[in-house]
Amino acid sequence: MKKGPIGIFDSGYGGLTVFKEIESRLPQYDFVYLGDNARVPYGTRSFETVYQYTWECVQHLFAMDCNLVVLACNTASAKALRSIQQNDLPSFDVDKRVLGVIRPTAEVVGTYTKTGKIGILATQGTVSSNSYVIEINKFFPDIKIFQEACPLWVPLVESNEFNTPGADYFIEKNLNNLFKQSPDIDTVVLACTHYPLLVDSISKFLPVGIRLVSQGKLVAESLEDYLERHTLLKESCSLGTRRNFYTTGAVGDFNEKAAIFLGHGVGYGIESKHLPL
Ligand code: DGL
Repeated sequence: MKKGPIGIFDSGYGGLTVFKEIESRLPQYDFVYLGDNARVPYGTRSFETVYQYTWECVQHLFAMDCNLVVLACNTASAKALRSIQQNDLPSFDVDKRVLGVIRPTAEVVGTYTKTGKIGILATQGTVSSNSYVIEINKFFPDIKIFQEACPLWVPLVESNEFNTPGADYFIEKNLNNLFKQSPDIDTVVLACTHYPLLVDSISKFLPVGIRLVSQGKLVAESLEDYLERHTLLKESCSLGTRRNFYTTGAVGDFNEKAAIFLGHGVGYGIESKHLPL
């Protein structure tokens, strides 16, 4: 198998919050990031559309020699991952692997709660797929899961309006809706990779003592463990310092906003390339 970079995919910038953690845990590998910024948000789109867009983007990453692609997007993980793994990969290329972000999160969050009640904040698509309820209950059948869809949060983040009174209004409203379902929730999962950018605003409105869970570290740990258990795949991931960023949208916007997502002082400039679909 030809060696290639690890591919990281998201509908937009959100996956950069996961990329950042993966890169810091596994810095020895080459990486290619693809954000489908031209077609974000995915969260309000149908199952068929999210699947079609995601599979197109995954094939672009395969064409860039990626043997392993991480869907750093909950909506794509909820709506497209299973079809890609079960229907597409067996006929496309049995050596390629596509992983998501829901399972690594579901496997551990149940150990965080004392009340046995977990809140999920996510896109409409992720909530209506019920993926978190199904996956968490596979590992922790007694835990009760409460979900709140936050359809405006991704557009607020993508348009760089996340530290504004307007954003605060919707964040407070969605959190109130979540806790109205159960005041005993003690663990809240940011089940959308865009949401870590909203942590400061979310913390302002979160009742005291609630554990807020971002996925980046969990996904990075799980990926490291997966590679240890799949040595052929591990050997097919090229080692090096390659960091290429691709966007289906505007390159200038991507470079500017990616810097916000990755944080300052990362040590390298982001120079994205346009990827026509
Ligand atoms: N980052 C994606 C997620 O984790 C955002 C989805 C969207 O494009 O609406 O769900």
